[in-house]
Amino acid sequence: MTEGGKVRGSSPSPLILFARARVYIACRDVLKGESAASEIRADTKNSQVLVRKLDLSDTKSIRAFAEGFRAGTGVTTYAVHPGIVRSELVRHSFLLCLLWRLFSPFLKTAREGAQTSLHCALTEGLEPLSGKYFSDCKKTWVSPRARNNKTAERLWNVSCELLGIRWE
Ligand SMILES: NC(=O)c1ccc[n+]([C@@H]2O[C@H](COP(=O)([O-])OP(=O)(O)OC[C@H]3O[C@@H](n4cnc5c(N)ncnc54)[C@H](OP(=O)(O)O)[C@@H]3O)[C@@H](O)[C@H]2O)c1
Repeated sequence: MTEGGKVRGSSPSPLILFARARVYIACRDVLKGESAASEIRADTKNSQVLVRKLDLSDTKSIRAFAEGFRAGTGVTTYAVHPGIVRSELVRHSFLLCLLWRLFSPFLKTAREGAQTSLHCALTEGLEPLSGKYFSDCKKTWVSPRARNNKTAERLWNVSCELLGIRWE
């Protein structure tokens, strides 16, 4: 999440904007988050890189995190596809690790994979596209199945059921 990174009347590079933004790292392991935050602070000279505890497998933790924000109005959200990124995603599967290694020259680096997220967080004037789907730093076509309201409602209900929560 970034805040205050936009500068009117000019278009500085994403790195410069990032260095001026307030950045929150939400993570379940605060020590690991702090270590990443120190690296980013040192790289960008931005002291406003903050770590917040968030365990996405625990609804209490999600609520506590959300309540800590009190974001107010003017918040925008974007659905983002990073591309296929050489991350730690496949670390639990030996087969996928092998495939990942085989195809690694064709995969994006973490820095490349972050570009669409940075684009959505930092580009001025993107606000009317809040809620849209982005890939490779542009708004992208969404398949009809993903636009089906009935399917979306079912997914929402099943998710609530699995989490044992009721949505008012
Ligand atoms: N890599 C790709 O090609 C790709 C493509 C499209 C979409 N995605 C999606 O992008 C997301 C991130 O993927 P990634 O490639 O960055 O995977 P990754 O390298 O495995 O990173 C996952 C991150 O999520 C954190 N995490 C896991 N469980 C959590 C929990 N319960 N609460 C809070 N944090 C938790 C992990 O924290 P720890 O460090 O504590 O383990 C880790 O930092 C996934 O949803 C993935 O499906 C990835």
